[in-house]
Amino acid sequence: MRSDANIAGPMTDPVPGPRTESLGEGVSRETPPPMDDTPIGRSAQLAVEALGRAGEGLPRPDRTRVMVVANQKGGVGKTTTTVNLAASLALHGARVLVVDLDPQGNASTALGIDHHADVPSIYDVLVDSRPLSEVVQPVRDVEGLFCAPATIDLAGAEIELVSLVARESRLQRAIQAYEQPLDYILIDCPPSLGLLTVNALVAGAEVLIPIQCEYYALEGLGQLLRNVDLVRGHLNPELHVSTILLTMYDGRTRLASQVAEEVRTHFGKEVLRTSIPRSVRISEAPSYGQTVLTYDPGSSGSLSYLEAAREIALRGVGVHYESQHAHTSNQNNRQNISEGMQ
Ligand SMILES: Nc1ncnc2c1ncn2[C@@H]1O[C@H](COP(=O)(O)OP(=O)(O)OP(=O)(O)O)[C@@H](O)[C@H]1O
Ligand SMILES: [Mg+2]
Repeated sequence: MRSDANIAGPMTDPVPGPRTESLGEGVSRETPPPMDDTPIGRSAQLAVEALGRAGEGLPRPDRTRVMVVANQKGGVGKTTTTVNLAASLALHGARVLVVDLDPQGNASTALGIDHHADVPSIYDVLVDSRPLSEVVQPVRDVEGLFCAPATIDLAGAEIELVSLVARESRLQRAIQAYEQPLDYILIDCPPSLGLLTVNALVAGAEVLIPIQCEYYALEGLGQLLRNVDLVRGHLNPELHVSTILLTMYDGRTRLASQVAEEVRTHFGKEVLRTSIPRSVRISEAPSYGQTVLTYDPGSSGSLSYLEAAREIALRGVGVHYESQHAHTSNQNNRQNISEGMQ
């Protein structure tokens, strides 16, 4: 089973850091990171319990939901969202694969996955047609979570792909040939709209756009949405923007609530009601090779990602939170936003 693979995995050394007490009784807020002999997964499980929904479980999709986490703007929280949502969904009982499609390899790092130059990686899958199953690694401490890592080789793939057959659909083919049962595949895209992102858009049915609650949050989104439309028109008729997630939300600032309001007005029901707060714990976790779910299970960042995952899982089976905002159709929103934002 997975746990064996985890124990024998490449990152078995305890993460350096302070030894902490067991989190046995409930979960403390903003606690020191759980380490060493306290199984991290157990701590994270406590976070699920902290939500008061232990054992409730979440509906699993009938077929694998492939979600493309994209926004060509840099630093908006794509990777943070990919890894933390993936871990949250896994902690809710789903089987989840993260595909790291960014040469920076940040998602691989955050999941504690070895991705030095010799590690079989998504580059081999895209450029050399290596089966995805040969590069997927289990993520330690989170049952049901897997990662296809990115190495620095991927930086050359944008160019190498150009001359290859079916250059836009190589990831799609690899995913279709992957036989392991999965509930979700989350693809972390680089901050560009090149061939790597196009491969993700062809492989997935859903686009998840993280939007940072900052100035210029919507800048460039029109271009992303036009690309989504182009790919839907020519290569992948199922593709649609299913989810918008507001990240780094700082409720103390008027700017954050203005941006949130503007995004909700533009997109309506695609916007998750849960937004992700700005949280030091979220930004610290990757340097320990962990998600915030295992790094500080009881923190506000951890709980908000668990809640966002719950919302996504429920939407997948047609259950929507009641929205506070008037909805217009997806098509109209897209039209407006394409016109309004160049
Ligand atoms: N909710 C949050 N609170 C605090 N810091 C955050 C939060 N979300 C992300 N960050 C930090 O913001 C930075 C950018 O986040 P992240 O790497 O996820 O963005 P990205 O969109 O993947 O970036 P890139 O475009 O370079 O791939 C990181 O240092 C991350 O730790
Ligand atoms: Mg990133």
